[in-house]
Amino acid sequence: MIISPRTRGFICLTSHPEGCAQNVLTQINYVKSQGLTDGPKKVLVIGASTGFGLASRITSAFGSNASTIGVYFEKPSAPGKPASPGWYNTAAFETFANEAGLYAKSINGDAFSNEIKQKTIDLIKADLGQVDLVIYSLASPRRTHPATGETFNSVLKPIEGSFSDKTVDFHTGIVSTVSIDPANEEEIANTVAVMGGEDWEMWITALKEANLLAPGATTVAYSYIGPALTEPVYRKGTIGRAKDHLEATALDITDQLKDINGKAYVSVNKALVTQASSAIPVIPLYISLLYKVMKAKGIHEGCIEQISRLFKDNLYAKNGVPVDEKGRIRIDDWEMREDVQNEVTALWAEATTETLPAIGDLEGYKTDFFNLFGFEVPKVDYNADVNEVVEVPGLQ
Ligand code: NAI
Ligand code: NA
Repeated sequence: MIISPRTRGFICLTSHPEGCAQNVLTQINYVKSQGLTDGPKKVLVIGASTGFGLASRITSAFGSNASTIGVYFEKPSAPGKPASPGWYNTAAFETFANEAGLYAKSINGDAFSNEIKQKTIDLIKADLGQVDLVIYSLASPRRTHPATGETFNSVLKPIEGSFSDKTVDFHTGIVSTVSIDPANEEEIANTVAVMGGEDWEMWITALKEANLLAPGATTVAYSYIGPALTEPVYRKGTIGRAKDHLEATALDITDQLKDINGKAYVSVNKALVTQASSAIPVIPLYISLLYKVMKAKGIHEGCIEQISRLFKDNLYAKNGVPVDEKGRIRIDDWEMREDVQNEVTALWAEATTETLPAIGDLEGYKTDFFNLFGFEVPKVDYNADVNEVVEVPGLQ
C-alpha cells in the first residue's frame, strides 16, 4: 500500500516501514562511526522499540557487539493496517542485527505485567544465561498493577497551584496560552504509580531472584529535569514527582545489588521529540526554541547521539562513572548550559505565532515528529507501493 501520515492531535495514526527502517539504519551507522566501546555484552532493554530505549539497544548491539533482548508494547501490522512505528523499528533492528551476526530477540506485551516479566526471564535463562546491563526506558500513560489489578492513569499537571503559560500547536504553529489546574493527591499518586520506580524495582528483583544478573551488572533508567521555564508542569509537577521516585529507587536498587557488586543509575537526558514528549503541554514550544539555540551552537543531539555519549563517556568510561551530587548521570549537561538557557529564556519572552517561525525551530520539531513515524525521511520514496505487513524476526 501507499502509506501517508494521518494525524490526530499530537499522535500520528500511520507509520511507514521503510522510513522507520531507514531511521534505524542511520542510527546504526552513527554508532558504528563512533567506534567500538568496551561496553555491555548481554543486554535487556525494557521499552526498546522507540526513543531512548531503541537508541540504547542500537548502541549496545552496534557499539559493543552485545546480544540484546527488547521488551516493548507495539501494534503489529495487518493487511491494509500499518503497524505502530516501534514494530517497524524493531523489525529493521533485528534484521540488521542478524545480518551482523548479533543475537536479537524481542517480546511484545505489557512490561508492567507478571506474565511479560516471566516470559522475559524464561528467554534470558534459555538463551543468554545472565545479562550485564538492563535499560529501563518505559514511557506510558497508564499501568495496571500486577498485584492488585488496579489501573492507574498518569496526568501531566502542576502541583503548586494553577499554571498558565505559552504553548504551541506544532502542526499549525499557533502559539497560545494554556492554563492547567493543579493535580489532587490521588492524581499525584497515580502518576507516581505509572512513571515512578516501582516497576523498575520489580523487574530487577525478579531478575535477581532468578539469578539472571551477572556479577557487576548495571541498570539504568531515564529521567528529565529541564529549566525553570517548564518546572511548574514538569519537574515540580506530577511527572516530576514520579521522576523523584524513580531517582530514589535507583538508591534502593543499588542496595539490593550490593552482593553482586551491581549498580543502578538514573541518567538525566536532554529534551527531545518523542511520542512521549509531544504529549506534554509547553514542552514542544520549549523544544523548538532549544533546538534553534543548540543547533546554532553546534551542540544539538538526538537520541542516538545522547545514548552513544552516555555509554562512551559515562557508563563505560575508563575512569569510572561521573555523577552529580545526587548520584545521577547528566547527559542533559549541554541543554542546561547557562548560555543555552539564557538564550532560550530570552526567546521564550518573544515567542508568538508570528515570531516563532523565525526565532524557533518549528520546522525541525515537525520533521522530527514525522520522522518518529517513518515520514519525511530522506531517501525514502513515499509514492512507492510498500508491503505494510512486516515480520519481526526475533519476536517470541
Ligand atoms: P518513547 O515513547 O519513545 O518510548 C517508550 C517505550 O516504552 C516504547 O518502546 C514503548 O513500546 C514502551 N512501552 C510503553 N508502554 C509499555 C508497556 N506497558 N509495556 C511494554 N513497553 C511499553 O519514550 P521516550 O521519550 O524514549 O521515553 C523513555 C524514557 O526517557 C522515559 O522515562 C522518559 O521520561 C525519559 N526521558 C524522555 C525525554 C524526552 O524528552 N523524550 C527526556 C528525558 C528523559
Ligand atoms: Na524508549
